[in-house]
Amino acid sequence: MLPRGSVAPVSIIPVPRVAVIVVAAGSGSRLAAGIPKAFVGLDDHTILRHALRGIFEAPPMQVIVVAPAGREGDALTDAEEAAADGRDLMSVVTGGPSRQASVAAGLAVLWGDVEYVLVHDAARALTPPDVFTRVIGALEAGAAGVVPVMPVVDTIRQMEGDTIVGVVDRSSLTAAQTPQGFPRRILETAYAAADQEYTDDAAVVAAAGHATTTVAGDAIAFKITTRADLDRARALVSPLPKSATPLGESALPRVGIGTDVHAFGGDGSLWLAGLEWPGEQALSGHSDGDAVAHAIVDALLAASGLGDIGTHFGTDRPEYGGAHAEAFLGRTLALLGEAGLRVGNVSVQVQARRPRLAGRRAEAEAVLSRALGGAPVSVSATTTDGLGFTGAGEGVAAFAVALVVPAR
Ligand code: CTP
Ligand code: MG
Repeated sequence: MLPRGSVAPVSIIPVPRVAVIVVAAGSGSRLAAGIPKAFVGLDDHTILRHALRGIFEAPPMQVIVVAPAGREGDALTDAEEAAADGRDLMSVVTGGPSRQASVAAGLAVLWGDVEYVLVHDAARALTPPDVFTRVIGALEAGAAGVVPVMPVVDTIRQMEGDTIVGVVDRSSLTAAQTPQGFPRRILETAYAAADQEYTDDAAVVAAAGHATTTVAGDAIAFKITTRADLDRARALVSPLPKSATPLGESALPRVGIGTDVHAFGGDGSLWLAGLEWPGEQALSGHSDGDAVAHAIVDALLAASGLGDIGTHFGTDRPEYGGAHAEAFLGRTLALLGEAGLRVGNVSVQVQARRPRLAGRRAEAEAVLSRALGGAPVSVSATTTDGLGFTGAGEGVAAFAVALVVPAR
């Protein structure tokens, strides 16, 4: 109770001009976790809670969480924890059967003073606050629609049935992320007029005749859609073990070496150098048996003085069972980052009779490089003149050398 004569404190949070609708009402059928995707845990916290953390670190906004029917209470718990002092800014509403219906449910509860609306997928759980700031900046500069984008790194092929009929020019393509932002009236009008399901909010607004502009997205804002995405997100947020032999600034740059061997005989398809090799015999191992990725991890950890692959990815880590190169390399990159280091370059050589790496060398280098935040990765391959276990076709060996440098 307040002492007699004192004045009750009033909320001094100004009414924000920006709102964000966080759509979290999907079932996550492709993830198939048995519960709605937004409530799947990354560490101690759910996907939704992680998504909201980034949002509450961005400039103050009205935050509307759109939850699956029956899960509103769970969403409110996550939102209240993430909001801390910003609880007055957030509310939870029930979503609809489609993403578009869920966005519409959010639009219905915008506060009167809101001028700009951002729509964000909770499934992009690790989106940094900067992306929100860039989208808001472009809206304030007068854009009718803003989409964060990433360059397309994969070669995109056009198919007819099972046959490749052409390669699409990558320079004309871009990958759209969220949060996508719009002036409120434009978004409301476009949603009121939408008479079909569109792929995203920019498409709804484009159908109403407005041009959208782009800002830089962020690789870490990837959407958690499949099990592999979930593995990658979990790897990125898991706590970092303390370094056994921390690296002094004076020692940099430093090289490290890593080797790995896996025998053929696993289930499913072969994964090597970050690529799936349909029709080739699989390698066995706790994870996907990608000896190339594992050799690179060992080389990077050795160069960084952070132990080896067993220190960080042992068989006691079930989340790495079946994981692919991206999850291992992404986590390694995070470990290096925490230690104030970044990857200079990586060179890896594969000894194997099969598969024939030469034809997919560029593809492998692109995938591995992307997983390491864009650092150069060279992949070479050799056979051993029929000698040894690789010559006999019993397995694959990989040898990697990595250079690490100070992060700044
Ligand atoms: N979403 C929503 N309401 C729906 C469908 C989707 O709010 N009816 C949200 C999801 O919760 C997610 C975002 O839209 O944050 C992007 O959708 P997607 O990644 O496709 O999620 P899901 O639809 O849940 O997954 P899936 O398509 O695999 O079922
Ligand atoms: Mg979906």
